[in-house]
Amino acid sequence: MKELISPEARRDLLSRGFSRRDFARLAAFAAAGASLPFYNESALAQGLSALPKLPPDAIRINANENPMGPCPAAAEAIHKVVQAGGRYLYQETFAFAETMAEIEGVSKEHVMPFAGSSDPLHRVVMAFTGPTKSFVVADPGYEAGERAARFIGAKTIKVPLRKDYAHDVHQMAQVDPDAGVIYVCNPNNPTGSITLREDIEYLVANKPKGAIVLLDEAYIHLSKTAEPGTALVTAGKDVIILRTFSKLYGMAGLRAGAAIGRPDLLARIRGYAAGALPVTGMVGAIASLKTKGLVEERRKIIADIREETVEWLDRKGYAVMPSEANMIMVDVKRPGREVFNLLLKEKVVIGRVWPSVPNHVRVTIGTREDMSKFRAAFGKVMNA
Ligand SMILES: Cc1ncc(COP(=O)(O)O)c(C=O)c1O
Repeated sequence: MKELISPEARRDLLSRGFSRRDFARLAAFAAAGASLPFYNESALAQGLSALPKLPPDAIRINANENPMGPCPAAAEAIHKVVQAGGRYLYQETFAFAETMAEIEGVSKEHVMPFAGSSDPLHRVVMAFTGPTKSFVVADPGYEAGERAARFIGAKTIKVPLRKDYAHDVHQMAQVDPDAGVIYVCNPNNPTGSITLREDIEYLVANKPKGAIVLLDEAYIHLSKTAEPGTALVTAGKDVIILRTFSKLYGMAGLRAGAAIGRPDLLARIRGYAAGALPVTGMVGAIASLKTKGLVEERRKIIADIREETVEWLDRKGYAVMPSEANMIMVDVKRPGREVFNLLLKEKVVIGRVWPSVPNHVRVTIGTREDMSKFRAAFGKVMNA
């Protein structure tokens, strides 16, 4: 088992606080691959909500999915490639990296393709945190990285969002001089709130030496204000960006995503698993990226439905945290879990509740019809 870990990897592990005794365990889980106890949004939504089997007409506004699904060009590309799927098709993965690089203004060596962004999120935690290298996150924030940190034996340090719901970058930069990864989700899940470019630049400039800033941009296309961090990557900073096709592009079940970062940083996450990527996800992602106007069109559709929903809630006296994504955090003025359960009885499945804001529920923006049914059910259960 020992031989599975190279001398270089051993030095890296020792520098993050692992002991020689940990090596066998790490080698075992590296070999175990898919059985790691990790989670993505859908597993978190299912697991934490302990959902019963849902009737087919249930409204699912719980996992920040996009009911529009893949755009027509993506669907067509996927149909076309299916018959060729008996082969390992690496070319499409390379083509995806090239297309993404061109659009983002980075070189293709700065793009590492994945089947979604959960995989690289977990790998970054595995590669850069450890018993003496903490994982720093915002609260409330997306929990998947924290679970990976727990698995690997790294401490998670939670820093509350600021009063304007941006990441408290000053606090995050200085909370632990031994931070391994500082995670910024922009727009943030579950709030949909924005952290401005100057704040992210401050964090990158003032973080502890040796820490990397993990910019999770799963929802970036949905925001008009949030700016992508790609300029930080081209400037050679200690930043890894995560992108996914699960949100605006509507491909959560098809799986495509990427990590964008300096080649030497990406090299450190390469070793944590292996394998070809689904060609369906790759060609769908390429077609999505090449569809002109898609981002603006979908951003507007989702923003319009979100604003209608927020205005309605406001009229009914329920405050919503400022969101520029496909989710809203609603202050339901009583335990969110109760409201979740009452809505479930009405066949409306909303998102989970975060312990630090127990009287809020997260609601994903679905279709106009979904949200109309949500309003009817919400009005009913809250007035009962
Ligand atoms: C903030 C954030 N990051 C990453 C992911 C992972 O999604 P996927 O693996 O589908 O790309 C999600 C899913 O909801 C998310 O909300």
